[in-house]
Amino acid sequence: MKVLVLNGPNLGRLDIRDSALYGDMSFADLSAFIVAEASAAGFEADVRQTDSEAELITWLHQAADEKLPVILNPAAFTHYSYAIRDAADMLKAPLIEVHLSNTMAREEFRHTSVISGVAHGTIAGFGPASYKLALIALSGILR
Ligand code: DQA
Repeated sequence: MKVLVLNGPNLGRLDIRDSALYGDMSFADLSAFIVAEASAAGFEADVRQTDSEAELITWLHQAADEKLPVILNPAAFTHYSYAIRDAADMLKAPLIEVHLSNTMAREEFRHTSVISGVAHGTIAGFGPASYKLALIALSGILR
């Protein structure tokens, strides 16, 4: 089964962001890790990253039309994008929200997610393993 793994702004520059928060994996390394873990869990992962809210919405529309499950790291859009939330709310298959860092242990503005209310669940704070845990959760939901 196919799963879309969508990533929002600045995640393409992971290796030059704060390594204490995000580790030192590049986005290419993270993508390869996700594809390998997805395959071990019986999924074919299509991993994408964009800095554009419009592009992320287009991908969510595509996932809704194709009834695909989605693992979404909305990055900073998490905290304020009602447009991403509305698009995510139209999905037909499960949505898992993920974060590399523990957003609840960071600045107050990161304690709010406008996405969580339309997600099946949220996994945050485990670095790249957040995505692995999301794949395990998804596999449990779908099978
Ligand atoms: C993030 C957390 C967000 O608050 C932040 O804006 C990001 C990354 C994470 O994966 O920990 O860009 O989504």
